[in-house]
Amino acid sequence: MKRLLTILLLVLCCTSATEAQQKKKIGNETPAQKQQRMSWWTHDRFGMFIHFGLYAMPARHEWVRKWESLTDEQYQPYFDLFNPDLYNPKEWAKRAKAAGMKYAVLTTKHHEGFCLFDSKFTDYKSTNTPFKRDIVKEFVEAFRAEGIKVGFYYSLLDWHHPDFPIDELHPQRPPTDDKGNDTIYARLNKGRDIAKYRTYLHNQITELLTKYGKIDIMWLDFSYPGSHPGKGKEDWGSVELLKLIRKLQPGIIVDNRLDLDEYEDGADFATPEQVKPSELKSLYNGMPFETCQTFSGSWGYNRDENSWKTNQELLTLLITSVSKSGNLILNVGPTARGTFDYRAERALDSIAQWMHVNERAIYGCKEAPATFEAPENTMLTYNPVTKRLYIHLMKYPSGSITLKGYGGLAKYTQFLHDNSEIKRVIKGTDMVLTLPEKQPPYTIPVIEVVLK
Ligand code: GLC
Repeated sequence: MKRLLTILLLVLCCTSATEAQQKKKIGNETPAQKQQRMSWWTHDRFGMFIHFGLYAMPARHEWVRKWESLTDEQYQPYFDLFNPDLYNPKEWAKRAKAAGMKYAVLTTKHHEGFCLFDSKFTDYKSTNTPFKRDIVKEFVEAFRAEGIKVGFYYSLLDWHHPDFPIDELHPQRPPTDDKGNDTIYARLNKGRDIAKYRTYLHNQITELLTKYGKIDIMWLDFSYPGSHPGKGKEDWGSVELLKLIRKLQPGIIVDNRLDLDEYEDGADFATPEQVKPSELKSLYNGMPFETCQTFSGSWGYNRDENSWKTNQELLTLLITSVSKSGNLILNVGPTARGTFDYRAERALDSIAQWMHVNERAIYGCKEAPATFEAPENTMLTYNPVTKRLYIHLMKYPSGSITLKGYGGLAKYTQFLHDNSEIKRVIKGTDMVLTLPEKQPPYTIPVIEVVLK
C-alpha cells in the first residue's frame, strides 16, 4: 500500500513538473534576458498610478458610467466641458519624485473609452475637447524630465466604441434578470463587430508605442472570460497584441491582464489589486507582483469618498510588498481641474518624509533570507548587494528588542534615518538592541543591520 502511494505521488509530481515545463511560449527570451529586462523594475519597487479621464468630472468613481447606466448622451456633457485648466504634469512629476516613486503609469484610455492622446483612430480624445491638449505627450515629457520611468495603462474594455459588443459589464447591458440571455445580447449587439474593435485596439497600442519614445511599462486592463458574456484573449487578439508590443518596445514590461495565463511568457508581473498586506505572497504563478492600491477606495477622483488610508497603512503596504520581493503602485486620481486632490497631496507628503531618510530599506531590497526571523511587530527587507538587513518597527518597542538567532551575524546596528548607533549585546545566539524610550519622529522607524 505504502509503495503504491509513493508511486502515485511520483507520477503526480512528474506530471505537474512536465506540465510546468510544457507551458507554451510566445517568444524566445531566455530567463537571463528576462531578468535583465526586468532589473530596473525589480530594483525600483515603488511607482505612481494616475487615473485621469472624463470621470474626474462626475467625481463619483471611474465606473460611474456603468454603475449609473449612463447613455452616450448622458455622458456627453463631460466631454463637451472637459477642461483641466490647472493640468501641469511637471508638478505631478515633482510630487511623485519627492515621494520616492521611480515610475509612473497613466491611464491613456479607461473603460469609458475617452483617449488622453491625439489618436488618429478616434474623435473621442482630449484634443477635441475645450482643453485641446495631448495629455499623454505632456505627461511623458514631464516625468521623463524628472528621471521617472513612464508606463501606459490602456483599457481593453471600451464603453464608447460602437463596435465593442455589449457584455455584462457594459453600461448598456440588459437588466440583471437577463444576464446570460444570449438572444437579448444578440439583439443588442446587432451591427457591433468585435473584429473591428480589435483592429482599433491594436492600432491605438501601435500609436502609443511609436509616438512617445521609449515606454517602460504597458498596463493592459482587463480580461473577464467565461462571464455571461465576457471577454478574453480571442476578443483582444492577445497573443498578437503581446507580440506587437514586444516588437515595438523590446524592453517593455507588461502586466498579466491579457488572459494569457497558459503561456509561460504571457505576462511579466501579477497585479493583486487592493488586497490587504497580509494577503500578499512572494510569487503568483511563478511571477513577481506589483500590488496596485488606491489612497482611498476609488481610482478616479471621487470627491465624497472618505476612506483614505493613513500614513501607517500606506507605508505598511510598501514595506510588506518589498518584504515579499514585490512592488507597490499607488494611485492618484487628479481632479477635473487637473490637480492632485489635497488629501492625495497630504498622503504623498507623508510618504516623502519617510522615504527621504528610509529609501535604502526599499530600493534594491527584497525578502530577507530565511535565517532571519522577524521579531514581533516588525517586518524585514534585505539588500543582497550591500548585505544589509532592515528591521521595520511597525509598532515601536521602547527600551529594547531581542533578535533571536542573530547572535554572531551583525557587524554594526544603527537607525537608518540618522545613522545613529544602536547598542547591541550578544546573549547566547541572540542579539539584544537597546532602543531609545521615545520613538524617533517617523511613523515606522527602521533599524539597519550591517551584516558580517
Ligand atoms: C480594475 C478597475 C479599474 C482600475 C484597475 C486598476 O480593473 O476596473 O477601474 O483601473 O482595476 O487596477
